[in-house]
Amino acid sequence: MNERATSPGDLDGLIAVVTGAAQGLGLGIAEQLAREGATAIIADLQRDKGRTEAARLQADGLHVQAAHLDITHSAGVATFFDEVIGEHGRLDVLVNNAGVGQIVAPVVELSDEEWDRVLNPTLTGAFYCCRAAGAIMEKQESGCIVNIASINGQNPAALVAAYNVAKAGIISLTRTLAVELAAYGVRVNAVSPGPVYTEFNRQNMAQRCQSLNITEDEMIERIRAAIPLGRWGEPVDIAQAVAFLCSPQASWITGEVLRVSGGMEGVSAAPPKRAQNP
Ligand SMILES: NC(=O)c1ccc[n+]([C@@H]2O[C@H](COP(=O)([O-])OP(=O)(O)OC[C@H]3O[C@@H](n4cnc5c(N)ncnc54)[C@H](O)[C@@H]3O)[C@@H](O)[C@H]2O)c1
Repeated sequence: MNERATSPGDLDGLIAVVTGAAQGLGLGIAEQLAREGATAIIADLQRDKGRTEAARLQADGLHVQAAHLDITHSAGVATFFDEVIGEHGRLDVLVNNAGVGQIVAPVVELSDEEWDRVLNPTLTGAFYCCRAAGAIMEKQESGCIVNIASINGQNPAALVAAYNVAKAGIISLTRTLAVELAAYGVRVNAVSPGPVYTEFNRQNMAQRCQSLNITEDEMIERIRAAIPLGRWGEPVDIAQAVAFLCSPQASWITGEVLRVSGGMEGVSAAPPKRAQNP
């Protein structure tokens, strides 16, 4: 287990929105930003879970709020950011973390519905949030955006094409926006996490070990052994990298994609032939 390093004060007084922060990596990121002095707004589809986690962190003395947000609704995203400005008067940090995994399937069997189910939140929703927050930050002439990509966006894994494409799109969106907003002093970077055992990965692992006919424990060990630093990631590993990119120490970093993966570059295994249809 990695310990949480905090530098209280680095993000003092900043207003930070973290999408998909009711659980998993987003929750770890919201907590880290708050521990470093920011007011973190958990913006998630899961209203009750977001509120419960915000209350838990508030009880620890942190400035954390919860808001309901579905990033797939363009108008709802615009309204949400208007409300943030209405309440706080500014927006300093956006972390686009919300995303969904794909049901494991080869491209030749990937349905239209599954393609859209993955692309809508994981890429298009992040675009809606970047557009709304980018407009605010451009006007303020300050701010920073961190998009959560994936090692799959750099090195695609078999059987999750929609997810790989969404994350490759996130990387391209990051680099485009970084150039467009540079003149306004707004920085835009991406973090590409490796495997962290969240709810997202639990579902993916369960499907992959079924298709490989191995147990979940064997699958977990196989992945661990493929990570050069020899352990799975923890949400705090990702959160600390995000906090660094939001901090003054990263003030000359923009358009960057930071892999945080224990050295893992991607999952390259080629699946065996499938049984042919008659
Ligand atoms: N866990 C990993 O190993 C891993 C690795 C690489 C990248 N990532 C990426 O990190 C991000 C977070 O992953 P996680 O593992 O914490 O996932 P998770 O499934 O545990 O959490 C995702 C959160 O996003 C929220 N969400 C989903 N759709 C939403 C929508 N339309 N609007 C608002 N919120 C929505 C969910 O309610 C949930 O709270 C994702 O973008 C994922 O692709 C995860």
